[in-house]
Formats: sequence, C-alpha cells, structure tokens
Amino acid sequence: MFLIVSLVSSFCLSITLSRPLDDELIMQKRHDDWMAKHGRVYADVKEKDNRYIVFKRNVERIELSNNIFDSKRTFKLAVNQFSDLTNDEFRSMYTGYKGDYVLSSQSQSRSKTTSFRYQNVSSSVLPISVDWKKKGAVTPIKNQGSCGCCWAFSAVAAIEGATQIKKGKLISLSEQQLVDCDINDYGCRGGLMDTAFEHIIATGGLTTESNYPYKGEDGTCNSKKTNPKATSISGYEDVPVNDEKALMKAVAYQPVSVGIEGGGFDFQFYSTGVFTGECTTSLDHAVTAVGYGESANGSKYWIIKNSWGTKWGESGYMRIQKDVKDKQGLCGLAMKASYPTI
Ligand SMILES: *[C@@H]1O[C@H](CO)[C@@H](O)[C@H](O)[C@H]1NC(C)=O
Ligand SMILES: *[C@@H]1O[C@H](CO)[C@@H](O)[C@H](O)[C@H]1NC(C)=O
Repeated sequence: MFLIVSLVSSFCLSITLSRPLDDELIMQKRHDDWMAKHGRVYADVKEKDNRYIVFKRNVERIELSNNIFDSKRTFKLAVNQFSDLTNDEFRSMYTGYKGDYVLSSQSQSRSKTTSFRYQNVSSSVLPISVDWKKKGAVTPIKNQGSCGCCWAFSAVAAIEGATQIKKGKLISLSEQQLVDCDINDYGCRGGLMDTAFEHIIATGGLTTESNYPYKGEDGTCNSKKTNPKATSISGYEDVPVNDEKALMKAVAYQPVSVGIEGGGFDFQFYSTGVFTGECTTSLDHAVTAVGYGESANGSKYWIIKNSWGTKWGESGYMRIQKDVKDKQGLCGLAMKASYPTI
C-alpha cells in the first residue's frame, strides 16, 4: 500500500514539476533533428546554445501563427531551413533587391518611362488562370544561397521564360554571369532587374547555367565563359506602376520580374496556401511572377517563383494574394515589375 501511494505521488509530482523540462528536452531534440536534416553544424557549444534559443523562438512563433483561428487565413507557415536565423539575419542574407532609394544616384532605370506593349490588351480576353510552369517556360527552382543576388535570379527567370516562349526552347541561363560581370549592380550585395537587362542588352546576351555555373559568391568576370551566348534580348519594358491589372496582362503573355518585400517573418517561414501574411512595401527582394489563378474557394493569387531552393514554400513557389485593396499589391509586388523583350 505504501509503495503504491508513493509511486502515485511521485508520478504526480513528476508531471507537475518536470513538465517544462520535458518540453525543453523535446525542443532540444527537434533542434538536433533539424540540424541533421539540414546538415547544419555549429562551431561550438556556445554557438549551438545561441542558435537553439533562436530556433525555439521561431518554432513557437510559427506554431502560434498556425494555430490562430481565422476562417479567412489561407496559408500556413512551417519550420524550414531558415529556422535558426533571426528575421534580421534572414533578411540580410537571403534578399538583395536594391530599391531606388539605395541606388538613386547610380540607377535611373525607373525615372525614364518605357512603353508597355500589353497596354491595349483587353482584360476580357485574358485567361482566368495562367501557369508558365505547366507550359514549360520555367526552369527548375534554383537556390541563391546566402548571396543577395535575387535580382539576378529574377531577371534570368524572366529571360528563360521569354526565350522559351519565343524560340520554343527552355534553357537554364547563368546568374553568375550577372553577379560577376554586371558592374552596375552589386553582385551578392544586391541589384535591380532593369539594370541587369540593360547589361545583357549591352553585352549581347547570356550564356547557359552549365557554361558559367552558379557559385553563390562574388567573383571576377570570366569573359571567356560568357560565350557562347545562349540567348539575347532586345529590350525590356516596365509594367505600369501600382497596377495589378496591368501586371496580369503582362503575366498572361510572359513571366515577369517583380520586386517584393520578402524579408518578413511570415515570408521567411511560408509553407503553403495563398499567402496573405504580414509584409510591407519596402521592396527588399526579387522574384518572378510565373502565373496567376483562383482557388476553388475564390481566393485569387499570383504564382511566384522564388530562388530559395525547393524546401521553402510550395516546392520553391509561393501563391500570393492577387487584386488586393492596396494599389501597390501585396508586399509591393506591383511596384517594380518589368520584363525582357526578344
Ligand atoms: C481555399 O482553398 C485552398 C486550396 O485551394 C486552401 O489551401 C485554403 O485553406 C482555402 N481557404 C479557405 C479560407 O477555405
Ligand atoms: C494603344 O492604343 C492607342 C489608341 O489606339 C494607341 O495610340 C497606342 O499606341 C496603343 N498602345 C500600344 C502599346 O499599342
């Protein structure tokens, strides 16, 4: 009898007292498993302890966000490869769009207006949905790594699309050529797609990914490797600013480079669904709009191709809310859209 009583009481005791400890152990195990899954190695125990604190904070916030009961919430976050980074670290490592406020003196690319060839396309003739992936005009998802050259990936994806549409051949093209050779942009420290288009026009085109492969770091231009050119462009045009209807016209005809605010927490951990998360319009990232559509329950979205590998989002893509009240588009995606012409 005594034995049973003491067992019961110690059992109860262990539940009430050690619960937080168990949670901590479970979280530590999750961090270890996550490290193994993503091949993460830390320099020492101190760094691991610090990264664990960040990981735990992120996991808790992700779970809190996913548990919010809101029938209008159409997207989920998930623990991914960015889970041991604070949002500030993430933003500085994985974005890299330089807004005009940064480049104001160097780049005048948005002070001049270009023509917009899709201006007179009637909205009524546009398809309800477009997916350039399904039409074979989008190369597999790439990974910029911790080099802030999203601008190069965005420009290249738009050119890959335009080339496939014009010539019927899908060719993976070189981002590293832009990172190394386009001296009007800033390589891993950022850049603008229009400046990249100008560089490509001036230098005669882009070579293939395999001929000038991606290194994920700044390098010196290897001019031999920039040949042979796999494609060239004759120009580029800006989509009228703050006009999702105009953007829709352009995306109906070809993939379009867009600036976006992609450095926020919700963006960092986006996993699936139509993104309606928190973001601003301070553009810090670049992606490519490769389609649009409408889900069964009526939410309209853009399909954007990102350059953070296939473990982020919907196998590397995001569906993001389309036709929002704000003219600038969600996360500013209608502010700086442009496409190459061939
Ligand atoms: C709408 O449908 C999508 C799938 O098409 C789903 O992910 C989302 O949760 C749905 N949203 C609502 C509010 O039911
Ligand atoms: C659109 O139509 C107007 C009026 O017909 C014409 O002046 C303009 O050049 C057209 N724009 C384009 C881009 O074709």
